[in-house]
Amino acid sequence: MEHPFSRHNEHQIFINKAGETLKENFKALDTAYRLHYHMMPPSGWMNDPNGLIYFKGEYHLFYQHDPYQAKQGPMHWGHARSKDLVRWEHLPVALAPSEQYDKGGDHGQGCWSGSAVDDNGILKLIYTGHVDGKTPEEVQCLAGSEDGVSFHKHPSNPIIDDSPDARRFGFRDPKVWKQGDKWYMVVGYGKDGLGKAIMYMSDDLLSWHYKGAAVESDGTMGDMWECPDLFPLGGEDSHVLLISPMNIAPVKNLYLSGRFDYENCRFEKGYAEQIDYGFDFYAPQTLIDGQGRRIMIAWMNIWGATMPEQEHGWYGAMTLPRELTLASDGTVRSQPVSELESLRGKHTAESSLILEDDAYVEVDGVRGDSIELAVLWDIAQSDAAEFGLRIRCSEDSSSYTEIRYMPREQKLFMDRELGGAGDGGVSAAPLAPMADGRVRLRLFIDRSSVELFANDGRMAMTNRLYPNPADTGIRFFARGGTAVIETLDAWKLAPIWE
Ligand code: FRU
Repeated sequence: MEHPFSRHNEHQIFINKAGETLKENFKALDTAYRLHYHMMPPSGWMNDPNGLIYFKGEYHLFYQHDPYQAKQGPMHWGHARSKDLVRWEHLPVALAPSEQYDKGGDHGQGCWSGSAVDDNGILKLIYTGHVDGKTPEEVQCLAGSEDGVSFHKHPSNPIIDDSPDARRFGFRDPKVWKQGDKWYMVVGYGKDGLGKAIMYMSDDLLSWHYKGAAVESDGTMGDMWECPDLFPLGGEDSHVLLISPMNIAPVKNLYLSGRFDYENCRFEKGYAEQIDYGFDFYAPQTLIDGQGRRIMIAWMNIWGATMPEQEHGWYGAMTLPRELTLASDGTVRSQPVSELESLRGKHTAESSLILEDDAYVEVDGVRGDSIELAVLWDIAQSDAAEFGLRIRCSEDSSSYTEIRYMPREQKLFMDRELGGAGDGGVSAAPLAPMADGRVRLRLFIDRSSVELFANDGRMAMTNRLYPNPADTGIRFFARGGTAVIETLDAWKLAPIWE
């Protein structure tokens, strides 16, 4: 049977070239900051996760990728696949800029972010063709694959050839899903200083009807919403919209929980908060898997950051996959997927640790750059003004990243001012103790990152760290009084890469 997608020789030539370059670059990589158990590109540049999908029993993760250099350039779609969300297999580049709608321009060009759907067993990708300086600059495009590995661009591209309004600031990052027998698309948009999530509907993924904005900024939520994702959570009648808003620093991500009305394509907003309070969390996207879990992965970096691994021939990583759930108060909880427990090796457990004022305590067996920690703090028995832990400590204590909780202020901080190379800065988040008066911290430390989850996923904070690779100390402390650790568990985590 003839493939419904045209076979573009140009496209295949660019993909082959990309593959060769990847192999060349990989040989020269400096591995100092390479992660042990996070998804990252074999070499070259990576940003947003794209096309997350559970397809024929496997998880697919595509990503914004420049295989030729460790900086942003003409965007390709890199591709990786996993059976368990933990161990990833790199596959050939899926999309390369090759057509007038996704190639050309001085700076920005390429196959920009988008999503994937299963259309009767065919894996289809919907992405933004971006060409700087062209009118229109951004259009929406379709590609497909029968084997889930090699993709062909559709002859009818672009499938949406212009934005609904000429005076727009961004029209990109289509996220498509099926509801009943209709396809829905939410697209990131900005106009008149307001970020918006705009909607389209289709019967066949080719011809799309504009349905207006589902929801827009109230004036405090940025002027362009990149990478929107809209999905049901906690039942078919409650929904969450994830966005990456531009120009409201320091906020780089938001979720809105509420209800999406399919009849009118309108989103009624209830609660809004950041989904992650760290510096290095952007462009999250979700998938629904075979067990009905809603799983989110984000780019574990941010535009404009100092990028120490660039000099090493690569840049960019993905967060750990996180399962999202909706609490009864409308807040979203995010927790690392349970499959990650399969990485656990040597276990160290302690209990009833009393930390004296201004002591910095090491626990035997608890150190490393590839480790999971679970720490339960008993607030009722503590009178410290602040307590927490320092990770990635140097022997002489001159370099570390400090995680501290201030119980009176109910605030959690991650301070990387003395963290090593890369940017400093202090991430901060509001955090009330749990109903039983305790604070539970769960940390995933990797060679150049830390992901912190507090109170069973009520709050998350993600940062890249670039300490000296030899600095692997972990020290627990209290200041302005004593603090009590009720239980401490630590697991060495096994690497997923050769
Ligand atoms: C978000 C983003 C998207 C765009 C892509 C380009 O990080 O700016 O809006 O599609 O990156 O790589």
